[in-house]
Amino acid sequence: MPGFTAADVPDLSGKTFVVTGANTGLGFEASRVLAAKGGEVVFACRNEDRARQAMAKISAETPHAKLDFVELDQADLESVKRAADVLSGRERIDVLVNNAGVMMPPLTRTAQGFELQFGVNHLGTFALTSLLLPKIAENGGGRVVVTASLAHRSGEAMWSDPKAEEGYSRIQRYYDSKLANTLFFVELDRRLRAQGSPVSAIGCHPGIASTELARNYGVARVLMPIVGKVLNTAEQGAWPTLQAATDPAATGGDYFGPRGLREMSGTSGPAFLTRLARDPGAAQWLWTRSVALTGIDPGLAPVD
Ligand SMILES: NC(=O)c1ccc[n+]([C@@H]2O[C@H](COP(=O)([O-])OP(=O)(O)OC[C@H]3O[C@@H](n4cnc5c(N)ncnc54)[C@H](OP(=O)(O)O)[C@@H]3O)[C@@H](O)[C@H]2O)c1
Repeated sequence: MPGFTAADVPDLSGKTFVVTGANTGLGFEASRVLAAKGGEVVFACRNEDRARQAMAKISAETPHAKLDFVELDQADLESVKRAADVLSGRERIDVLVNNAGVMMPPLTRTAQGFELQFGVNHLGTFALTSLLLPKIAENGGGRVVVTASLAHRSGEAMWSDPKAEEGYSRIQRYYDSKLANTLFFVELDRRLRAQGSPVSAIGCHPGIASTELARNYGVARVLMPIVGKVLNTAEQGAWPTLQAATDPAATGGDYFGPRGLREMSGTSGPAFLTRLARDPGAAQWLWTRSVALTGIDPGLAPVD
């Protein structure tokens, strides 16, 4: 089996994809392919200028590309609610690609006071997904994609201090936020299945890819050009995202990543989730906590 690449993305005519953080990195590369294959792509981004510049690049390459923009700042739950309101008014949403993320910034907090990585990478994803589920379900199918990371393997589930008032390790907080992404999509799919929902939740990770992700962390930032040569370019890093979003053979609960050595690079296929990432107790605890912290409840009952 050669593994999934952009060449395997089927015709997407008539489908609408919402991609968070579509203006650069993996989100941009995935959006470029989705648009070229005929899908409508809604850029859900926090900076309209950056988003429109990125959209113009895609339009130059694919003149018939169907692109739209909605303002979304996942560091502010009020912005997430406004974006969800606007998006819910669209004719259809087939796939929500939760891609936006931030890695290892100096201690920063969201508008609601949560530590930024937990707030943007997990709580923003949890909130946007929860609010859009009814819309995604409307057409009798639909997918939610959550972008995790190899870093989930080092997560320790330290969410008892969501505002980082007792201390801050920028590295551990990133690991934990990515563990939260894995716990969330597995638990979401479990609850959707139990409820007989037509929507599936699928996870992915890009291995290691050259993007702007290391912008906040000097050591990693200098290595990024080398990453692009030795491991994945952003284009290659988007393959697991594209598989999760479009592979007709993918089913709820699947997790995709690069098939090369230690899942760091290569074409996309099934990837490894740690036991903790699949732990129903940890997932339910995080779910309850996420509802309490965001005030947003997707209304999906726990599964025994
Ligand atoms: N690159 C890798 O090796 C790697 C490895 C594992 C996992 N990942 C994951 O892949 C995803 C995409 O990362 P990337 O590598 O493509 O990084 P990137 O080039 O830095 O792109 C991140 C995107 O997220 C957006 N974003 C950040 N904070 C946001 C907020 N508060 N609200 C809305 N959007 C926000 C950024 O918008 P702005 O441009 O406006 O800041 C940007 O569009 C992330 O979830 C990351 O954790 C990446």
